Amino acid sequence: MTILDNQFENQKAPRVPPVKNKGGQSAFFSCWDLHAYYGESYIVQGVSFDIREGEIVALLGRNGAGKTSTLRAIARVDEPEVRHGEIWLDHQGLHNMKSHGAAAVGVGLVPEDRRIIQGLTVEENLKLAQIAPPIGWSIERIYELFPRLGERRTQEGTTLSGGEQQMLAIGRTLARDVKLLLLDEPYEGLAPVIVQEIERTLEHIKTLGITTIIVEQNAIAALHLADRAIILDMGQVAFDGTAQEVLDNAELRQEYLAI
Ligand SMILES: Nc1ncnc2c1ncn2[C@@H]1O[C@H](COP(=O)(O)OP(=O)(O)OP(=O)(O)O)[C@@H](O)[C@H]1O
Ligand SMILES: [Mg+2]
Repeated sequence: MTILDNQFENQKAPRVPPVKNKGGQSAFFSCWDLHAYYGESYIVQGVSFDIREGEIVALLGRNGAGKTSTLRAIARVDEPEVRHGEIWLDHQGLHNMKSHGAAAVGVGLVPEDRRIIQGLTVEENLKLAQIAPPIGWSIERIYELFPRLGERRTQEGTTLSGGEQQMLAIGRTLARDVKLLLLDEPYEGLAPVIVQEIERTLEHIKTLGITTIIVEQNAIAALHLADRAIILDMGQVAFDGTAQEVLDNAELRQEYLAI
């Protein structure tokens, strides 16, 4: 059974990447008409957008708008269950894959709770990420990006500070060959000085051209980093435009972001 074999099947969904970017070529990443559920709770309600290679997209919206659910749907995590829609990354269809398949073709989700593995050192956490191909950055390169991780390479990962754990979660994702980096609230619960440190790292990652979706409650920080902004409201796309448009539009920010 494919994702399309369900109550939406008579909508005759196209089987090729449907979304075209402004250049008229297939987008590097696109999701098309995603509908996803937790049990019978209908949460992601027809989300479509595309992303060009190297673009950074801020995915914003109020609490409960469906941001985390959309990232999880893209990463093909079991829940929410995607019952309709297509997801394409670099000409590969993710919609019929499970999370390990999506990871193998280059989706790297850095979840909100960071998921550092207990009982393993910083270095063992990074090495574990490289246990199977495709391998991305070397461990030394990750330590260059986050010198604090190098200094603490033998420390147990779960004893790191919140900011350091966030660095380890990002580093662990880069240890695999990522084509699409999904960051869920990377600044959550961190002191402003640590937020700035992680922001500098993300600025650096941006110069390397890694296509990224960043979800952040700190919308202003995310908008400064991002090229584009997509605002979700009640599981649907309410706005898709440049990050600058959102920074310039106080009414839009007030309506959907309450800032
Ligand atoms: N496991 C779950 N089971 C049932 N409903 C869920 C589950 N996870 C999330 N939801 C519901 O889905 C909706 C969207 O949640 P989601 O976590 O995607 O929002 P969000 O935009 O990331 O919010 P926040 O900014 O608070 O992180 C919410 O109404 C939430 O209660
Ligand atoms: Mg969330």
